[in-house]
Amino acid sequence: MVFNVPWIFSPVRSVLTVFHQLIKCEIPELNKASVCVRDKGRVETIINNMRRAGPNALQVISDFDMTLTRFAHNGTRCPTTHNILHSSALISDDCKAKMTDLLAHYYPIEIDNSMSVEEKVPHMVEWWTQAHDLLVQQRIRKDQLAQAVRDSGSMLREGYKSFFDVLQQNSVPLLIFSAGIGDILEEVIREHGVFHPNVRIFSNYMDYDQHGVACAFKGELIHTFNKREGALQNTHQFVHDRTNVLLLGDSLGDLNMADGVKDLHDILRIGYLNDKVEERREAYVSSYDIVLEKDETLDVPNAILNYITAGK
Ligand code: TMP
Ligand code: MG
Repeated sequence: MVFNVPWIFSPVRSVLTVFHQLIKCEIPELNKASVCVRDKGRVETIINNMRRAGPNALQVISDFDMTLTRFAHNGTRCPTTHNILHSSALISDDCKAKMTDLLAHYYPIEIDNSMSVEEKVPHMVEWWTQAHDLLVQQRIRKDQLAQAVRDSGSMLREGYKSFFDVLQQNSVPLLIFSAGIGDILEEVIREHGVFHPNVRIFSNYMDYDQHGVACAFKGELIHTFNKREGALQNTHQFVHDRTNVLLLGDSLGDLNMADGVKDLHDILRIGYLNDKVEERREAYVSSYDIVLEKDETLDVPNAILNYITAGK
């Protein structure tokens, strides 16, 4: 028996096929082996909505450590902003040993797939509080930070220059929500020549005495799983009327960094899955729209940004 497809479906189907092909051809990076997508149709719809709305409706909200910076290079782990201080000549061997012990104890908890966020939070508060207490005992001088960053081998992901420059050229705000150390983060992007005026940073900043020596951390502590609280205060004039968000993160705690955006229209969440890939794939693919597995580049975000901004 011949099954006749009702004519009414044909044009719809062909439109969908062309639409899919369009994205495939325009953003071939989405076919990279590192890319995992739960719902391709949804991703295509969001990207095309964002292109139609153009760069004036867009803001980018990103995590920093292990999202804009690399997780590893040539098989060696790259430093987080905390690790940059940790391995610098600015802190004592005793402090280094204690910070190593903290990392060995708490990092496995941070990425433990079997624990809920609620269970992890008290451990994260303990980790950050102890690490910051150790750091402020070290009498770190503000004017020594730039050299510590230069010596650290910190690395932004491949393609970082295009990422920061395209956002700057299109006047798209880049909001960085980081549980790292803001002073170090600023030095990293300054060192790489991409600390453009469209960048705003929400992070843990050190407070200095009259001699420029770090004596405390300012304000509320930001750890991996409380970024939502900071995000809710993100009502700055800077992002006024920008109702489309491209969000980049590497932790499930980064998913709600856009919770403070007013009148949110479209959001595309891209997640870097750097570590414990097999164990965490399911959780990442079900919560991020696009998951990038062990991908040390910004190729996919860059290709999407180029596609969105080219439509203006
Ligand atoms: P974020 O990338 O979500 O902003 O979090 C910062 C990262 O910093 C998080 O993955 C844990 C890491 N970290 C260290 O490497 N060393 C430390 O001492 C602390 C407190 C955090
Ligand atoms: Mg991170």
